[in-house]
This record gives sequence, C-alpha cells and structure tokens, in this order.
Amino acid sequence: MKELLDSIYAVGADDTTLDLFESQYPVPQGVSYNSYVILDEKVAVLDTIDTRATAEWNENLKTVLAGRAPDYLIISHMEPDHSANIAALARQYPAMKIVGNSKTFVQMGQFFGADTFPSERLVEVKEGDTLPLGHHTLQFIMAPMIHWPEVMMEYEQTDKVLFSADAFGKFGAVCRGGAWAPEARRYYLNIVGKYGAQVQALLKKAAALEIRTICPLHGPVLAENLGQYLALYDTWSSYRPEAPEEVLVASASIHGNTKAAAAHLAEKLRVQGAAVTEIDLTRTDVSYAVAEAFRCGKIVLACATYDGGLFPCMEAFLAHLKAKNFQRRTVALLENGTWAPMAAKLMRAQLDTMKEITVCEAVVTVRSALSPANEGQMDTLCTELLGK
Ligand SMILES: Cc1cc2nc3c(=O)[nH]c(=O)nc-3n(C[C@H](O)[C@H](O)[C@H](O)COP(=O)(O)O)c2cc1C
Ligand SMILES: [Fe+2]
Ligand SMILES: [Fe+2]
Repeated sequence: MKELLDSIYAVGADDTTLDLFESQYPVPQGVSYNSYVILDEKVAVLDTIDTRATAEWNENLKTVLAGRAPDYLIISHMEPDHSANIAALARQYPAMKIVGNSKTFVQMGQFFGADTFPSERLVEVKEGDTLPLGHHTLQFIMAPMIHWPEVMMEYEQTDKVLFSADAFGKFGAVCRGGAWAPEARRYYLNIVGKYGAQVQALLKKAAALEIRTICPLHGPVLAENLGQYLALYDTWSSYRPEAPEEVLVASASIHGNTKAAAAHLAEKLRVQGAAVTEIDLTRTDVSYAVAEAFRCGKIVLACATYDGGLFPCMEAFLAHLKAKNFQRRTVALLENGTWAPMAAKLMRAQLDTMKEITVCEAVVTVRSALSPANEGQMDTLCTELLGK
C-alpha cells in the first residue's frame, strides 16, 4: 500500500511465486496486479486484482479506506487478473455502484452470473463521460482491444493521472525493480502486439491530454520522463523496429550443427559491424524471441529439417510472430538437412503470409554440418542482409 499522490493510493499486490502469467509467459521476477483507490468526497476503487493475491489486496484496502465504504468500483478490464474480486467487493459494500461500459457489463454477467448485479448498481459510461468525486474527476477513455474489447482507461483531470489498464504494464513484481523496457516490451508485444492499430488510436487520444502520471494495472507507476514510454509504445504499435540495423539470429537445432552454423553466421555479421543477438529457440521461451524479433530490424532464421518439416520450436516461433502481426522486417534463412533440406522453403512459406516481410534471396543450406561450401553462401547472405 502506498500513497502515490494526495489521496490517490496504490493498493495492489506483487505475486513473486507465479510461474506462467496467463498460463503462458514465464515471469522469473513475478508480476504485480495493481489496483488504486481515490479517497475524496466520494471514494472510488479502480479495479480489483487476481485471486492469487486477494488477501493482501483486502488488507491494503482496509488500511486505506479506514472505515469508509467505496462509492464506486471502476472496472477498466474484465480479464480475471483484474476482475476476480468484483462480486466479493460488491457483496461487502452493498451501496457501492459499479462503473463500466456496455461491454463490461455483458462480460460481468458471463463471469459472475447474469443476475449477480442488479441494474440499479451499474453506472454505464461511454467515451468522454466524467465522474466527479469531489476534488478529483475521472474522465473515461474507451480503449477497445487493449487488450480486450471492453477495456477502458480513466483520466483523472485534477492531478492529470492516466489509469491505463493493461497498457504501459510490464512483467515483474514491483518489489523486484528492474529496467522497464525489456519486460514491458516482452509484455506488450506478446500480449497486445496484435492490436497496433488500436494502440495508435489510443496514443492519438493521449496526445490531447496533459499526462503527469501513468498508473497501469501491472508494474510500476510511471511518473517521470513519460515521453520515453509513449515513444516506445508508438514504435511498437506501428511495427517499426527499435533497432533497425540490429540482427536477431534465432536457431532451431536438434544436435547442435544448425546452431553452430548460425553462430558462425552471427560472427560474420559482427565482423561486418552488425550488433547481433543469438537466441536458441530450443532453450529460450518463445516470448523472449518474439520480443527480440520485434526489437530488431533484421532476423536470421536457422532451422534443421525435421521429418520433412520444420523443427517444432521454429514452427511455433513463426506461428507466434504471425499471431502478433509481425511485419516490416528483413529476414534471411539458413537451413540444415541431411538428406532432403526443406526448412528454408517452409520458413519462406510462413513468412509469405506476413505483411511487408522481405526475405533475402541468398539462402544458406547446410548439409548436416558446416562445410567450406557454406562460407561463400554465408558471405553473400551477410552482404544482402546488411545491405552492403
Ligand atoms: C528426428 C530427426 C528428423 C530429421 N528429419 C530430416 C528430414 O526430414 N530431412 C532432412 O534432410 N534431414 C532431417 N534430419 C536431419 C537434420 O535436418 C539435420 O541435418 C541434423 O539433425 C543436423 O543438424 P542439427 O545438429 O542442427 O540437428 C532429421 C534429424 C533428426 C534428428
Ligand atoms: Fe489483460
Ligand atoms: Fe492484465
């Protein structure tokens, strides 16, 4: 529990024991589920939290409310990591109104049962509506598909705080600290990455507001140099690489020869002056590879042919990239095959279904293990990929 600004409190909780966020993303530093309270003439609670931390949230709420009852519960997002405690809080405070939009209330009925919330307890808001609390006033900003259709944000007009729902969130418990960009990037690109157009629309609305503090539903409250976070969101949501000249070399190797060939190629790229990151897809969770592929402007995909197909971790990587709307990058291919190499053709077929991907003509074909014949192929590929 923490007072962020005069009478605005953070009452969420860290979760440092979760293995997979959304049953999918490793969170070695945990995650936080944030929730906020504004104590004014009226008392507003902004979002509840995941069931995994209900007890701590209840304690924080009790301390901050100090005997007062909330007048409003604002629902920014119905995903269960934020909405799990809505019904319990509503039962605890029978006079409390629940504020959402028309889509929020449909989902609330689905999660908790259609008759759980009588209509007189629901306050339905739409874009631009305001809710006066006294000294503070909340203005509602619809943010559909960041990251579900019912998502909305609240702009507090007096202290100029944007309660940004999942946007500007990051993996990692707040208590663990850590740099913002790497885990915010992995969070954004894997969770919201598909919805660049919707984030662009939101950034246009945000540009018209004076924002001094961003309170997301995961990760730290952002209060300084907000321009850097907004600039990264603009880059990510417009599918521009952060590092247009940097190269990701991602390999999928069964016995190590493809990985060794990929490392040899990476070294050649470095000799030519490129900054290169190597990721072994057999050993690195795909969410890190997705984030790195979006960060870099150039990608090398290196894959062993496997039963006439792609080694599954490469197939999965390409499927994840496609699902996140991966586009506007240059990709080079390295394949391995002992009797009938197929990987380059199959990777190209996947890349052809994505938007604005330039696949280099030069392909490196390894036959089992790196051989002198590969040197020339690799040099040609390096020249084409780096545009030298
Ligand atoms: C289970 C398995 C299936 C494979 N299937 C094929 C195949 O269908 N066509 C082919 O040319 N090579 C195939 N290979 C050979 C690999 O593509 C590759 O040449 C070999 O594993 C060496 O590369 P690595 O050390 O990176 O795994 C297969 C290898 C394994 C272990
Ligand atoms: Fe979400
Ligand atoms: Fe969330």
